[in-house]
Amino acid sequence: MRTAAWDGSTAELDAVAELYARVFAEPPYHEDPDESRRSISERIRRYADTKAAFRLILAWDGNDLAGFVLGMGISDGDWWRDRIAGLVADDVRRTWLRDECFCVAELAVAPAHRRSGVATALLTAVLDGVPYKTAVLGCQAAALPARRFYAREGWQEVATGLRIGDSPEQCVLAKTIG
Ligand SMILES: CC(C)(COP(=O)(O)OP(=O)(O)OC[C@H]1O[C@@H](n2cnc3c(N)ncnc32)[C@H](O)[C@@H]1OP(=O)(O)O)[C@@H](O)C(=O)NCCC(=O)NCCS
Repeated sequence: MRTAAWDGSTAELDAVAELYARVFAEPPYHEDPDESRRSISERIRRYADTKAAFRLILAWDGNDLAGFVLGMGISDGDWWRDRIAGLVADDVRRTWLRDECFCVAELAVAPAHRRSGVATALLTAVLDGVPYKTAVLGCQAAALPARRFYAREGWQEVATGLRIGDSPEQCVLAKTIG
Protein backbone atom coordinates (compact mmCIF):
# COMPACT_ATOMS: atom_id res chain seq x y z
CA MET A 1 0.00 0.00 0.00
CA ARG A 2 1.32 3.43 -0.87
CA THR A 3 -0.14 6.90 -0.32
CA ALA A 4 0.24 9.71 -2.85
CA ALA A 5 -1.30 13.12 -3.42
CA TRP A 6 -3.95 13.37 -6.16
CA ASP A 7 -2.17 13.97 -9.47
CA GLY A 8 -4.91 16.37 -10.60
CA SER A 9 -6.19 13.99 -13.30
CA THR A 10 -9.82 13.24 -14.08
CA ALA A 11 -9.03 9.52 -13.98
CA GLU A 12 -7.96 9.67 -10.32
CA LEU A 13 -10.85 11.99 -9.45
CA ASP A 14 -13.30 9.50 -11.02
CA ALA A 15 -11.77 6.67 -8.95
CA VAL A 16 -12.18 8.76 -5.78
CA ALA A 17 -15.79 9.59 -6.68
CA GLU A 18 -16.57 5.92 -7.32
CA LEU A 19 -15.10 4.86 -3.98
CA TYR A 20 -16.89 7.68 -2.16
CA ALA A 21 -20.23 6.70 -3.74
CA ARG A 22 -19.75 3.04 -2.74
CA VAL A 23 -18.63 3.73 0.84
CA PHE A 24 -21.24 6.37 1.68
CA ALA A 25 -24.09 4.25 0.29
CA GLU A 26 -23.40 2.00 3.33
CA PRO A 27 -25.15 2.43 6.67
CA PRO A 28 -25.40 4.73 8.54
CA TYR A 29 -24.96 7.16 5.63
CA HIS A 30 -27.28 5.72 2.94
CA GLU A 31 -26.30 8.43 0.45
CA ASP A 32 -27.55 8.16 -3.12
CA PRO A 33 -24.56 6.91 -5.21
CA ASP A 34 -25.30 9.00 -8.30
CA GLU A 35 -25.70 12.19 -6.31
CA SER A 36 -22.58 11.30 -4.25
CA ARG A 37 -20.44 10.80 -7.34
CA ARG A 38 -21.51 14.16 -8.75
CA SER A 39 -21.24 16.16 -5.54
CA ILE A 40 -17.85 14.85 -4.38
CA SER A 41 -16.26 15.55 -7.77
CA GLU A 42 -17.69 19.08 -7.81
CA ARG A 43 -16.57 19.76 -4.22
CA ILE A 44 -13.05 18.47 -4.80
CA ARG A 45 -12.57 20.61 -7.90
CA ARG A 46 -13.97 23.68 -6.11
CA TYR A 47 -11.88 23.13 -2.97
CA ALA A 48 -8.73 22.57 -5.03
CA ASP A 49 -9.24 26.03 -6.53
CA THR A 50 -10.39 27.92 -3.44
CA LYS A 51 -9.18 26.37 -0.18
CA ALA A 52 -5.92 26.99 1.60
CA ALA A 53 -3.78 23.91 2.26
CA PHE A 54 -6.01 21.73 0.04
CA ARG A 55 -5.00 18.09 0.33
CA LEU A 56 -6.40 15.01 -1.38
CA ILE A 57 -4.38 11.89 -0.63
CA LEU A 58 -5.02 8.50 -2.18
CA ALA A 59 -4.02 5.08 -0.86
CA TRP A 60 -3.17 2.55 -3.56
CA ASP A 61 -2.93 -1.21 -3.46
CA GLY A 62 -1.31 -1.70 -6.85
CA ASN A 63 -3.82 -0.14 -9.28
CA ASP A 64 -6.67 -0.56 -6.82
CA LEU A 65 -7.80 2.56 -4.91
CA ALA A 66 -7.96 1.39 -1.28
CA GLY A 67 -8.96 4.71 0.28
CA PHE A 68 -8.65 8.47 0.25
CA VAL A 69 -8.68 11.45 2.57
CA LEU A 70 -9.68 15.03 1.76
CA GLY A 71 -8.67 17.96 3.95
CA MET A 72 -8.15 21.70 3.83
CA GLY A 73 -7.71 24.81 5.90
CA ILE A 74 -10.99 26.43 6.99
CA SER A 75 -11.75 29.90 8.33
CA ASP A 76 -14.60 32.39 8.52
CA GLY A 77 -16.73 32.00 5.36
CA ASP A 78 -16.37 28.21 5.04
CA TRP A 79 -19.94 26.80 4.89
CA TRP A 80 -19.48 23.94 7.37
CA ARG A 81 -17.31 25.94 9.75
CA ASP A 82 -19.80 28.81 9.93
CA ARG A 83 -22.65 26.48 10.77
CA ILE A 84 -20.67 24.55 13.38
CA ALA A 85 -19.34 27.79 14.89
CA GLY A 86 -22.94 28.90 15.48
CA LEU A 87 -23.81 25.68 17.32
CA VAL A 88 -20.85 24.93 19.60
CA ALA A 89 -19.92 26.53 22.93
CA ASP A 90 -17.67 29.62 22.91
CA ASP A 91 -14.69 27.75 24.38
CA VAL A 92 -14.94 25.04 21.70
CA ARG A 93 -14.99 27.71 19.01
CA ARG A 94 -12.02 29.55 20.52
CA THR A 95 -9.94 26.47 21.28
CA TRP A 96 -10.56 24.31 18.24
CA LEU A 97 -12.03 26.31 15.36
CA ARG A 98 -9.92 29.38 16.20
CA ASP A 99 -9.60 31.96 13.37
CA GLU A 100 -8.47 29.12 11.14
CA CYS A 101 -7.79 25.41 11.49
CA PHE A 102 -7.39 22.28 9.37
CA CYS A 103 -10.49 20.23 8.54
CA VAL A 104 -10.54 16.56 7.60
CA ALA A 105 -13.55 16.76 5.30
CA GLU A 106 -13.74 13.15 4.04
CA LEU A 107 -12.07 9.84 4.82
CA ALA A 108 -13.08 6.56 3.22
CA VAL A 109 -11.54 3.11 2.94
CA ALA A 110 -12.90 0.39 0.62
CA PRO A 111 -14.51 -2.46 2.57
CA ALA A 112 -11.97 -5.03 1.33
CA HIS A 113 -9.10 -2.94 2.70
CA ARG A 114 -10.43 -2.13 6.17
CA ARG A 115 -8.74 -2.98 9.46
CA SER A 116 -5.32 -3.06 7.84
CA GLY A 117 -4.13 0.43 8.74
CA VAL A 118 -5.15 2.27 5.54
CA ALA A 119 -7.09 5.01 7.35
CA THR A 120 -4.30 5.42 9.89
CA ALA A 121 -1.77 5.93 7.08
CA LEU A 122 -4.06 8.38 5.25
CA LEU A 123 -4.72 10.45 8.35
CA THR A 124 -1.01 10.63 9.15
CA ALA A 125 -0.25 11.71 5.59
CA VAL A 126 -2.94 14.39 5.42
CA LEU A 127 -1.93 15.99 8.71
CA ASP A 128 1.80 15.87 8.04
CA GLY A 129 3.20 19.39 8.20
CA VAL A 130 -0.11 21.26 7.87
CA PRO A 131 0.33 24.89 8.97
CA TYR A 132 -2.39 24.98 11.67
CA LYS A 133 -2.50 24.41 15.42
CA THR A 134 -5.68 22.33 15.45
CA ALA A 135 -7.62 19.95 13.23
CA VAL A 136 -11.37 19.33 13.33
CA LEU A 137 -13.88 17.08 11.61
CA GLY A 138 -17.57 16.27 11.66
CA CYS A 139 -18.70 12.69 12.18
CA GLN A 140 -22.20 11.25 12.22
CA ALA A 141 -23.09 10.12 15.74
CA ALA A 142 -24.25 6.77 14.34
CA ALA A 143 -20.90 6.09 12.60
CA LEU A 144 -19.48 4.01 15.44
CA PRO A 145 -16.53 2.44 13.54
CA ALA A 146 -15.37 5.92 12.54
CA ARG A 147 -15.75 7.25 16.09
CA ARG A 148 -13.72 4.31 17.46
CA PHE A 149 -11.11 4.86 14.80
CA TYR A 150 -10.72 8.57 15.58
CA ALA A 151 -10.65 7.94 19.35
CA ARG A 152 -7.77 5.54 18.82
CA GLU A 153 -5.99 8.21 16.77
CA GLY A 154 -6.23 10.64 19.70
CA TRP A 155 -9.16 12.79 18.53
CA GLN A 156 -11.48 14.23 21.20
CA GLU A 157 -15.23 14.60 20.80
CA VAL A 158 -15.59 18.31 21.60
CA ALA A 159 -19.28 18.67 20.69
CA THR A 160 -22.10 16.18 20.24
CA GLY A 161 -25.78 16.19 19.33
CA LEU A 162 -25.40 18.81 16.60
CA ARG A 163 -27.78 19.07 13.66
CA ILE A 164 -27.27 21.23 10.61
CA GLY A 165 -30.70 21.65 9.04
CA ASP A 166 -32.31 18.21 8.76
CA SER A 167 -28.97 16.35 8.75
CA PRO A 168 -28.47 13.37 11.07
CA GLU A 169 -26.94 14.02 14.50
CA GLN A 170 -23.26 14.96 14.26
CA CYS A 171 -20.27 15.16 16.59
CA VAL A 172 -17.32 17.47 16.18
CA LEU A 173 -13.95 15.85 16.82
CA ALA A 174 -10.74 17.77 17.28
CA LYS A 175 -7.03 17.27 17.75
CA THR A 176 -3.99 19.45 18.46
CA ILE A 177 -1.57 19.19 15.56
CA GLY A 178 0.87 22.07 15.81
C1 LIG B 1 -13.68 4.45 9.59
C2 LIG B 1 -12.74 3.92 8.49
C3 LIG B 1 -12.19 5.09 7.69
C4 LIG B 1 -11.58 3.14 9.16
O1 LIG B 1 -10.71 2.70 8.13
P1 LIG B 1 -9.65 1.47 8.36
O2 LIG B 1 -8.63 1.56 7.28
O3 LIG B 1 -10.41 0.22 8.50
O4 LIG B 1 -8.99 1.86 9.73
P2 LIG B 1 -7.60 1.27 10.32
O5 LIG B 1 -7.36 -0.10 9.78
O6 LIG B 1 -6.54 2.30 10.11
O7 LIG B 1 -8.07 1.14 11.84
C5 LIG B 1 -7.32 1.58 12.92
C6 LIG B 1 -8.09 1.30 14.19
O8 LIG B 1 -9.35 2.01 14.20
C7 LIG B 1 -10.31 1.22 14.94
N1 LIG B 1 -11.36 0.75 14.03
C8 LIG B 1 -11.40 0.86 12.69
N2 LIG B 1 -12.53 0.31 12.22
C9 LIG B 1 -13.22 -0.16 13.28
C10 LIG B 1 -14.43 -0.87 13.44
N3 LIG B 1 -15.21 -1.22 12.39
N4 LIG B 1 -14.84 -1.22 14.69
C11 LIG B 1 -14.08 -0.89 15.76
N5 LIG B 1 -12.88 -0.25 15.68
C12 LIG B 1 -12.47 0.12 14.46
C13 LIG B 1 -9.55 0.03 15.49
O9 LIG B 1 -8.98 0.41 16.75
C14 LIG B 1 -8.48 -0.15 14.43
O10 LIG B 1 -7.36 -0.86 14.92
P3 LIG B 1 -7.38 -2.48 14.86
O11 LIG B 1 -7.82 -2.88 13.48
O12 LIG B 1 -5.94 -2.82 15.17
O13 LIG B 1 -8.33 -2.91 15.93
C15 LIG B 1 -13.50 2.92 7.54
O14 LIG B 1 -14.19 1.97 8.33
C16 LIG B 1 -14.50 3.58 6.60
O15 LIG B 1 -14.15 3.99 5.48
N6 LIG B 1 -15.76 3.68 7.06
C17 LIG B 1 -16.83 4.26 6.22
C18 LIG B 1 -16.60 5.76 5.96
C19 LIG B 1 -16.48 6.57 7.23
O16 LIG B 1 -17.20 6.35 8.23
N7 LIG B 1 -15.58 7.56 7.19
C20 LIG B 1 -15.35 8.47 8.28
C21 LIG B 1 -16.31 9.61 8.16
S1 LIG B 1 -16.15 10.75 9.54
